[in-house]
Amino acid sequence: MNLKSVFSEIIHKLKIVNIFRSLRARIFILIFVTGFISCQVVHFAIIETYEGRAVAVRTTEAQTQARILADHLITYGYLQDTSSEIVGAELDMLANLYDGRVMIIDDNLKIIKDTYGISEKKTIISEEVVKCLKQGDNGTTSVYDANNGYIEITTPITQTRITEDESGNEVEVEEVVGVILTSVSTDNISTTLDILNQNASSIELIIIIVIFMFSLFAANILLKPFDRITNAINDIKAGFTNEDISVPDYLETEHIVTAFNQLQSRMKTLDESRQEFVSNVSHELKTPITSMKVLADTLVAQPDAPIEMYQDFMQDISKEVDREATIIDDLLSLVKMDKTAAQLNISTVDVNEMTEIILKRLRPIARKNNIELTFDSRRPVTAEIDEVKLSLAIMNIVENAIKYNKEQGWVKVILDADHQFFTITISDSGVGIPEDSTDLIFNRFYRVDKSRSREIGGTGLGLSITKSAILMHRGSIDVDSVLGEGTTFTVTIPLSYAK
Ligand SMILES: Nc1ncnc2c1ncn2[C@@H]1O[C@H](COP(=O)(O)OP(=O)(O)OP(=O)(O)O)[C@@H](O)[C@H]1O
Ligand SMILES: [Mg+2]
Repeated sequence: MNLKSVFSEIIHKLKIVNIFRSLRARIFILIFVTGFISCQVVHFAIIETYEGRAVAVRTTEAQTQARILADHLITYGYLQDTSSEIVGAELDMLANLYDGRVMIIDDNLKIIKDTYGISEKKTIISEEVVKCLKQGDNGTTSVYDANNGYIEITTPITQTRITEDESGNEVEVEEVVGVILTSVSTDNISTTLDILNQNASSIELIIIIVIFMFSLFAANILLKPFDRITNAINDIKAGFTNEDISVPDYLETEHIVTAFNQLQSRMKTLDESRQEFVSNVSHELKTPITSMKVLADTLVAQPDAPIEMYQDFMQDISKEVDREATIIDDLLSLVKMDKTAAQLNISTVDVNEMTEIILKRLRPIARKNNIELTFDSRRPVTAEIDEVKLSLAIMNIVENAIKYNKEQGWVKVILDADHQFFTITISDSGVGIPEDSTDLIFNRFYRVDKSRSREIGGTGLGLSITKSAILMHRGSIDVDSVLGEGTTFTVTIPLSYAK
């Protein structure tokens, strides 16, 4: 066998294996094999039953005939004298009737008559005959030899004798004086069997063809719903439709379809938020560019504009460039957060010290806005955190508290801990957040009051950066706000980082 033929054989085998992996093929095979086996069982059961019954009927018949003959043998004294023509004719008739052989055996096991005429005067040695002689009626036997096609029956020849018992009373005694050994041909039974077998086989063939067609049909019908699911999913994949799939035929298909629809709706939501994000980003990036374009165009349209105007406009353009740079920085840090979600740079950090540093950095802005910034540390806290990311998060919140505050307002930062978590609470006396916006402020680019926020400056990315940093630490952030009175952000972080 060369390499090529080995390969082709392997490929051939793989194809067969693939067929067996098909549910459709399995259902087909299951139905077909079940039908085929039942068909065979019924066939053989019928044939067997018929044979058993036919043999039994023929045996009983022959036995009855042999018994009648036995009586006649006694009546005519045949055992003593075999010349009786009537009995001879009767014997031949019995042999003819059953297409067999009849032998009369006396109590010395000598064959005194054989319808075949070949064994007369010989002594027979047969277990059945001996048993019959000894036991009389109880010794009646019949042996079916299916291979050679005959039944051998022994029938006792009994005579009633009158004797006296011990007390001198007359009693009748049954005495076995000989045996009739009849061989009955079963040729016609096997002929009938052959015909039956033939008929059964042709019916069986038809039934098997019907079962074959039925299993093909059933396997196809049963699996139709799965084909429908595949087609529907393919349609969605090809973009023909975006609707939910519905295949409620079976509980199983319903489960698959429900799971798929949920997946699809999740992907739709993801897709929508991605699109929203992209359009927000481009909008945000475009705004400063539009302003710069307007400023530049104005200067170009006035060739003799004074130097002061140039300086003024250039300052504005420079501010817009800064804005653009801030937006890009924020975006980059967001992308970084998303990417390095699994890679926190964890170390043991003194949280009190970290908070002090954050507040120190923000104090100048607070002073500029006349905001009183206080820190209340309830206990010393050390925790396993990523100092850079978490500092940025807290700084964003405190910066907001300063920015969205009132003239002469205050910002209070409280640090506390229990045995599992530490909490940083940032409260302010600021403008507050409308109730329907409290969930939205964490979205990228979301700002409550667009015009006011523009004046304050900012991209709306701060809190979304904060939130992803906190979630990466398996912490949580809550916001509680009363419009016009102030806002409280509560950040809770586990003391030890669990991967
Ligand atoms: N302490 C606060 N009080 C009132 N409003 C707040 C407060 N913190 C946040 N907000 C509102 O939530 C919005 C989103 O805040 P976020 O920090 O994400 O963006 P931003 O401050 O506008 O811009 P930046 O990206 O520069 O931080 C703010 O624009 C503001 O409207
Ligand atoms: Mg902010």
